[in-house]
Amino acid sequence: MKLVLKTTTQNLVKTDLLIITARENSRLTLPRGVKVPKLATQSFGGKSREMRLTDATSGLAARVLLVGLGSGKLESETLRRCGALISQKAEKISATSTTVWFDKSVGKSAEKLGQAFAEGLIMGAYQLSDFKSNSPKAQLKRLAIHASREFNIGAKKGRIIGEANCLARRLQDTPANLMRPCDLVSEARKIASGAEQVTSRIIDEKAMAKFGMGSLLSVSRGSSEPAYLIHLTYKPKRKAGKKLCLIGKGLTFDAGGISLKPSAKMDEMKYDMSGGAAVLGAMAAIAELKPNIELHGLVPASENLPDGKANKPGDLVTAMNGTTIEVLNTDAEGRLILADALVYAERKIKPDAMVDLATLTGAVLHALGHEYTGAMGNNESLIEELVESGKNTGELVWPLPIHEKHADAMTGKVGDLKNISGPGIGAGSSTGGAFLKNFVGDIPWVHLDIAGSAWGAADRDYQNGDTGTGVGVRLLVDWIEQNT
Ligand code: BES
Ligand code: MN
Ligand code: ZN
Repeated sequence: MKLVLKTTTQNLVKTDLLIITARENSRLTLPRGVKVPKLATQSFGGKSREMRLTDATSGLAARVLLVGLGSGKLESETLRRCGALISQKAEKISATSTTVWFDKSVGKSAEKLGQAFAEGLIMGAYQLSDFKSNSPKAQLKRLAIHASREFNIGAKKGRIIGEANCLARRLQDTPANLMRPCDLVSEARKIASGAEQVTSRIIDEKAMAKFGMGSLLSVSRGSSEPAYLIHLTYKPKRKAGKKLCLIGKGLTFDAGGISLKPSAKMDEMKYDMSGGAAVLGAMAAIAELKPNIELHGLVPASENLPDGKANKPGDLVTAMNGTTIEVLNTDAEGRLILADALVYAERKIKPDAMVDLATLTGAVLHALGHEYTGAMGNNESLIEELVESGKNTGELVWPLPIHEKHADAMTGKVGDLKNISGPGIGAGSSTGGAFLKNFVGDIPWVHLDIAGSAWGAADRDYQNGDTGTGVGVRLLVDWIEQNT
C-alpha cells in the first residue's frame, strides 16, 4: 500500500472511498464539492470507532465513510484504532484508492497523532495469507491522507514503525519449519543489505565455540538445525550519542528438549522467537528513522528439541564468562541462550544500556496476563524509562522485582548456577531474571518478559488474539527516541 501525504489545502483527487473523520457531536467538514445524503450525517454521532458508509451524492468520491473520533482529549490510541478500522473497512469493500480527510480538530499534539494513525493503518492491514492456496491479495493500493504538516511528519514515522511491527509479526506467525534459526539469519541479512547504515555479523557454531559460548551451544545440540548469534549494528552518519544494545530470544521452536512439554498448545512454541522478531523489527525501523545513536541488535537463534545429543537434566555447561550452569530442566533454555548473548554484549559491545526481550516464563502470563510485559533489571531508572515508553505506545510494561532470595534460589549444587529454582520458591519470572543478572556485568540492563504479551492479546483493532502482536517494536523505538 502506497501512502500519500497531502495537506487540507490541496484539492481532492478522484477516489473510490473518501474517509471523513469527526469528533463526537461536531459538524462534519467535507472537502469542497463533496456532498453526502442528509440521513447519513444525521444518524452519525461521531463516537469513537463509530462508522457510517454512504454513497456520495456529488463530488470526486464514489463512496464516503464517516469515522468517529469520540469526545475529550484525542488520544494516540484512538487514532491508532481508527487507522486500523479504516484500512480494514477499505479492504472489505474492495476500495483500491482511499483518501482520508482530517479537519483542524485533530489538535495540538498532531505529530504524535499522525504517527499513531499511520501505525494503525499499516498494522490493521496485516494479514498472514501467503500460505493458503487461494489467499486473497490486498486490494488497497493507494491511501492518501489530507492533514496538517505536523500530522504528516508523524504519519511518515508511523508508516515506518507500523511496517516494522508487521515484519516482526510475519516472523512470529510463520510456522517453525519455515522460520528456523537460518531463516532468521536470512531475514537479518535482508535488513542489513537494504539499509546503508546497518551491518550484519553472523556468529556460527564454530565461532561460538571459540568464544566459549557453551551455554548457547548446549541448546541447539538436540536439533539438526545449527544455532546462530545474529549481530546487527546501526551507526549514524554523525558521531553517535549513546550506544544501546537490544537482545531478543530467538528460539524458533521450543519443544522443551528432554524435559518435553505437554503436546497441548505446543504449536504455539513457534512464538518462542518473538523477542528476536521484536529486535529485528526495531532494527529495521531504526535503519529508516536514522536517530543519532549507535544501536546493536543481538538475536541468539536456536531450536530446543529432544535428541540423543540434547542437554540432559543435570548436565553442566559453561557460559562465555566462565560461569558453570547445571541444566536441571532443559525447558528453561531461553536463559541458557541469552546468558551467552548478554556476556557477548557486555564484553564485546560494552553498551551504555541494554534491553533484552524474551518469551522466558509461563509464569509472567499468570502474573500479568496478555496486556502487560514484565520488566526487571539492575537499574531502577532504566526500568522506569521502559514503563514510560509503555504508556506512550500502549505496549504496557509493569515492573517485577529481583530479590536477593530470587538470586539465592538459582545457586547451583554442582555448578555456580542452576537454570531452575527449587520447589516452593515461586516467582518464576523473577528467578528467571535473577539468573540472567549473572551475565550482564555492570551494564545498566532491563529484561522484558514478553511470554504473555507476544501473542494472545485482546482485540484492539490493529491486533488481536489470532496472530503475534509484534510487541516490543513500538516500545523499543519509543525508548530509543527518548534516549537520543
Ligand atoms: N518458552 C518457554 C516459556 C513460555 C511458556 C512462553 C508458555 C509462553 C508460554 C520457556 O522456554 C519455558 O519453557 N520456561 C519454563 C521455565 C521453567 C522450566 C523454569 C516455564 O515457564 O515453564
Ligand atoms: Mn522452554
Ligand atoms: Zn522457550
